[in-house]
Parts: sequence; C-alpha cells; structure tokens
Amino acid sequence: MKETILVTGGTGFIGSHTTVELQNAGYEVVIVDNLSNSSADVIDGIEKITGIRPAFEQVDLRDFDATENVFKKYPAIKGIIHFAASKAVGESVEKPLLYYRNNLVSLINLLELMPKYDVKGIIFSSSCTVYGQPTAENLPVTEAAPIQKALSPYGNTKQINEEIIQDYIHSGANIKSIILRYFNPIGAHPTAFIGELPNGVPMNLIPFVTQTAIGIRKELKIFGNDYNTADGTCIRDYIYVVDLAKAHVKAMERVLEKDTDPVEVFNIGTGTGLSTLEVIQGFEKATGVKLPWSYAPRREGDIEKVWGNVDKANNVLGWKADTPIEDVLASAWKWQCSLRERGIM
Ligand code: UD1
Repeated sequence: MKETILVTGGTGFIGSHTTVELQNAGYEVVIVDNLSNSSADVIDGIEKITGIRPAFEQVDLRDFDATENVFKKYPAIKGIIHFAASKAVGESVEKPLLYYRNNLVSLINLLELMPKYDVKGIIFSSSCTVYGQPTAENLPVTEAAPIQKALSPYGNTKQINEEIIQDYIHSGANIKSIILRYFNPIGAHPTAFIGELPNGVPMNLIPFVTQTAIGIRKELKIFGNDYNTADGTCIRDYIYVVDLAKAHVKAMERVLEKDTDPVEVFNIGTGTGLSTLEVIQGFEKATGVKLPWSYAPRREGDIEKVWGNVDKANNVLGWKADTPIEDVLASAWKWQCSLRERGIM
C-alpha cells in the first residue's frame, strides 16, 4: 500500500473519479466533503468499482478545527488533492462572498495545517478559465500564456488560489504543490457507477446534451453560431474525466517522490479543440441517439475558442489523454441511462 491521500471534494464529479484511480494505483484515500453538492452514495459507487471503501469524513473545510481533526485522526496523510470548491459561474456572480469564503478559506486552512501534520504535497484543481480568451498566437494555450482578469468571482478564486499557493511556498513553507489547469472535463466512469450529477438545469454542455437525449430537456440550445470559428460555434478542449483523474495520480507521484520545483503548473487537456456542433455530431454518432437542438443567441461571458498545448503534461508529467471522444461521449450517455434505470433522473 502506498501513501495516504486526502481527497477534498472526493464525492464530487472529478474527486470521485480521482479516488478510483488513486485506489487502483495502490494509494489509501481519505475523502472529505461537506456534501453541499454531492451525495454520500457516491462512496458506494467507488467501492463497487475498486472493491475498496475509502474513508469518509463529512467536514466543511471552512471550519478550521474540524479540518484539523481530520489530520489528527489520519496521521498517515502525506498528500492532498484539493477539489472541494463552489463551481457555478452564474451563482458566483450573485453570491461572491460565498465563493470567496468557501474557495479561499478552505485552501488557506489546508495550507496552514500541512506543515504541522507533515503533509508534503498538494495538488490544486485550477482551470483554463485563468487564460480568458487567449490571443490567436497563444492558441493552443501554454502554461506561459498571460493570465487575464477573471470574468467571474468563481474564476477569480482559481487565480487567487494559485497565487496563495505560490506566495506560501515562496515564503519558505516546507511543502510542494502541483497546480493542474483543466480544460473541460466530461464523461463518466465506463462502469457507469459514478459520473456527473448536476443540480437542477445543467449549465455545462454535456449534461445538457445527455438530459436532452433522454427527454428531461426538450431541446439543446447552441449558444451562438456567429463566432469566428469554422462552423461558427465555440471551441473547447473536452477532456475525459477518467484521463483527467489519472493525471492526478501522476501529479501525486511526482510531488511526493521526485525532486522537482516546489510549485509546478500543468495544463490538462487533450490538445485538440472541438466545436459545440462537432460534439453534438460526435454524440449522435457514438450513441445512435438523435439530439433535438437549435441555435440561440450567444451566452454572456462565453469564451470563443480555447484549447490547450499539453506538451508539458505529456513530456514532464508523463501523462497523455488517450480515450477517443466517441468512447467519452458514449460513457456520458451510459451514465445518463443508468440514472434513469435507478430512478434518479
Ligand atoms: C464553464 C465555465 C468555466 C468552468 C467550466 C467547467 C462559464 C462561462 N464557464 O466553461 O468557468 O471552468 O465550465 O467545466 O460558464 N453550450 C451550449 N449550450 C448549452 C451549454 C453549453 O451551446 O446548453 C456551449 C457553450 O456556449 C460553450 C460550450 O458549450 O461554448 C461549453 O460550455 P460549458 O460546458 O458550459 O463550459 P465552458 O463555458 O467552457
């Protein structure tokens, strides 16, 4: 058995898939989640896949004492993967203080506790949102591209948290960190025992696609067909959540075992941009399901096109996204069908 890893937000979408991959790689996992946007049932799904039930503590990371008690209870924790955060862009505009308190205080509490409990490394979930709309010469976007002013409090918390980590390590704190900037995570575990469970009407493309395909939503609206792209719809770098989860295992190995810079940043994507229209066509091809859709006006705040240069992750981290998009889209559909079979949606 390898080291014990604390996965915050471990019952969430990316956290649950990462827990599975950590356990498959031999790590022991302790999940902390306040269940504000997920359910403890997810732990059953993780156990069904791996045969191992991760330890679980329902804790709110804003609560310093409760967080400290986790480190007291599990003194073997050597690394943290920090997913727990509020993530709805629109809600963050309406409730900025909720976002700033939740996303910033949680990280600060963890960082403060790390040296005291001899926790060596923290992997932080950041986002390509920090790049805003890269200029044409900066596409595909590398880690060296300029950070642009965030378009929402949510995006701003990602930028500020990256700076907090940099500043803390610069001050001499004896910890290491890897910051992973994700592009657009999609799909579900191939078993369909875990996946993405959005609250209410989905804001993200793929959950809206699968909910429309199964009849929960009448029609998908493509936001804008007059963008400066080949087919006029926006372009994103859609990364399979299982591939993304595996990047965390690589990052954890690196931060704990290798002699590296104390803070490193990696883009985590496929390196390929797909338009919204291409995703819809890909979904229909992968599943054989016809999707009702129409064009609608642009969505405020949307980026026209962004995809990643992922050479650094490929060459330095030794990780590559390798799941074909058809399989990824089929996994999302299988998950949606399993929710229906289980009477959840
Ligand atoms: C969104 C967030 C981003 C966050 C990311 C996490 C916004 C503005 N940005 O990114 O901060 O890090 O999710 O995954 O919300 N689309 C439609 N119809 C729909 C839904 C989406 O056409 O019903 C289009 C969007 O216009 C966009 C693409 O699909 O071009 C992807 O949208 P989405 O899944 O919401 O992701 P992002 O906007 O890239």
